Amino acid sequence: MNVAFYEKLWMWAAGVLIVAFLATIAVGVAGSALQPPSHVETIDPTQVFKDPRFAHPGVTVDANGATVVAFGLMYGFTPPEIRVPAGKRVTFRMTSTDVTHGFLIVGTNANTMLVPGYVSQFTTVFQRPGEYLIVCNEYCGLGHHLMSAKLIVEEAQP
Ligand code: CUA
Repeated sequence: MNVAFYEKLWMWAAGVLIVAFLATIAVGVAGSALQPPSHVETIDPTQVFKDPRFAHPGVTVDANGATVVAFGLMYGFTPPEIRVPAGKRVTFRMTSTDVTHGFLIVGTNANTMLVPGYVSQFTTVFQRPGEYLIVCNEYCGLGHHLMSAKLIVEEAQP
């Protein structure tokens, strides 16, 4: 088959671009530990307070690490202060009771959206003990700039 030079050139260029785009996804997943914000677990946003998964927001620590159950609402996070152990796997399970909020732990790679109707879940490890600011980074209304919470990463008990 005879393919013209310029056609070959453009086919190769398109092929290289496809490989480059796939590579950016691979680098994001493997290098920066990026994950989709949800695992498509749904929840009725009007029943979050009564739902057994979210009725007791807080931190549970066990041998494998910690699980944080929290939610966002206009204009704050419940619980407003989260304490987790350093160097252990911490799984966040969160949702929203009203509109879409953001959940960014400043200075870490923890960053997700809290979308009403869905449970956002991700797992991360905090190596450095200390106090971290949590902010809402999705515009959610007039009090958006007031929406914050605190994460305290505690030195692991010997
Ligand atoms: Cu919640 Cu912005």
